[in-house]
Amino acid sequence: MNKIVIEYGKQEKKISKYIYGHFAEHIGGVMYDGLYVGEDSNVPNVKGFRKDIIDLLKNINIPVLRWPGGCFVENYDWRDGIGEQSTRPIRVNFWHNDDGKLESNKVGTHEFAEFCEILGTEPYFAVNCTTTPALEARNWVEYCTFDKDTTLTRLRKENGREEPFNIPFWGLGNECWGDGGRMSGDYYACIYNNYSSVVSRVKRDGYYIACGPNENDKKWTKSFFEQLYSIRPAFNPIINGYSMHYYTRGGGHCIDFNESEWYNLLFNGLKMKDYIEDQRAIIDEYDPERKIGLIVDEWGAWHPVNSGPSKGANLFEQQSTVRDALLAALTLNIFNDKADIVKMANVAQVCNNLHCLFLTVGEKLIVTPTYYVFDMMKGHQDANALAVTLDTDYIGVDKGIEIPRISVSASEKDGKTLVTLANTSYSEECELTVELTSKEFNGEIETVLLTAENPNDYNDVDCNKVVPVCGKVQACGGKVTLKMPKASVMSLSFETK
Ligand code: AHR
Repeated sequence: MNKIVIEYGKQEKKISKYIYGHFAEHIGGVMYDGLYVGEDSNVPNVKGFRKDIIDLLKNINIPVLRWPGGCFVENYDWRDGIGEQSTRPIRVNFWHNDDGKLESNKVGTHEFAEFCEILGTEPYFAVNCTTTPALEARNWVEYCTFDKDTTLTRLRKENGREEPFNIPFWGLGNECWGDGGRMSGDYYACIYNNYSSVVSRVKRDGYYIACGPNENDKKWTKSFFEQLYSIRPAFNPIINGYSMHYYTRGGGHCIDFNESEWYNLLFNGLKMKDYIEDQRAIIDEYDPERKIGLIVDEWGAWHPVNSGPSKGANLFEQQSTVRDALLAALTLNIFNDKADIVKMANVAQVCNNLHCLFLTVGEKLIVTPTYYVFDMMKGHQDANALAVTLDTDYIGVDKGIEIPRISVSASEKDGKTLVTLANTSYSEECELTVELTSKEFNGEIETVLLTAENPNDYNDVDCNKVVPVCGKVQACGGKVTLKMPKASVMSLSFETK
């Protein structure tokens, strides 16, 4: 029997809304013709951005959107993306060797910042620290956010924007351990120190995010902080966030996977918990008061084959089955549970790419199972994480690759409790009891269930096989027993007395 006990009043731990963040890079089909179709397109749009996607993103209250990369930013010149759209330079995209696509720069600073305004989300700009100097980083920050009369702010005004843009988050560098410079942690610490010192003189209240390690590279993190703190022994280093990347691999084909690959992917996804704990422990040595937020600004499933509707034309585009929904729910449950550690996370990427929420096919839009998980879990944003004790068994088909049958997190906001659950079994339904301590259910429990007949099911233009179903469960007292189908995600929301 699987049992969940939820304890009220045991802990004060706010789940940062930024854990529910997203990422939109100029790569493959994410921007063109994914999010951005242009104002003259037949596809209904607002200022060139797809209206259907705007409406759906608004519905899930996306708190933050990272842009323009990713590796794309590693040779991005922000000046290419300002001024008259039709005369902007066409450049070789970072990803050109992989997909042959060129960058039109039709979406630049103004278009993207205004897109965020339409969405009601906060932009997170990633800065090139690989191939453009710190002065250009300063100039971009000044152009976007400075409120005094300077040559650059005049240029912004000439380009149509009187008021500064509200861009709170600035990431200085991307994957500097990889194609972003092949830097060691200590070398990047010097680069970071330089860029952060320069940009923070223009925008003092910016939230500056340093590039963190690939996955759980402890050595890299240790050498970064050791060096950063030795450069600035007398001052606090200018660093608000530190961001690692972790993609989950090892699940075989995106759609055509077997039971063993199902468990392998989820098993690898669950490593996120140890990775964030390990990384936080290293940062704690230098920042015991936890002023620096740990961020995971790229996460998601990375399957080996292009399996989306563009059939490979859009780099890294992949279909999303109910398995990807499970991985999203497991990861977000970990982040909720570790809300004292994780301050922001951005799933990669919004559309036509890795672990995406949408796939576009001309005018048509496919909403992936992952989108529905973000919808079911949006109530956790800025809620108080509740203490949960989970009693469950471990399942799997390969020795050493066993995972907990149930994944859970719970939170409370405005008198309402939200519990999000996943049944990780490939083949078996399960029964579980949810028990409250010191409180009782007050009336009905509203449920949302996301599952599919087969674990390999996905949504396509003409066939939606993985869509949420709403329901209600009567509950009295402090205990309820539920059934969860195999391969499912479920949310419970209820009031208590
Ligand atoms: O999300 C795709 C790519 O994965 C990003 O550009 C890069 O940062 C990461 O390696």
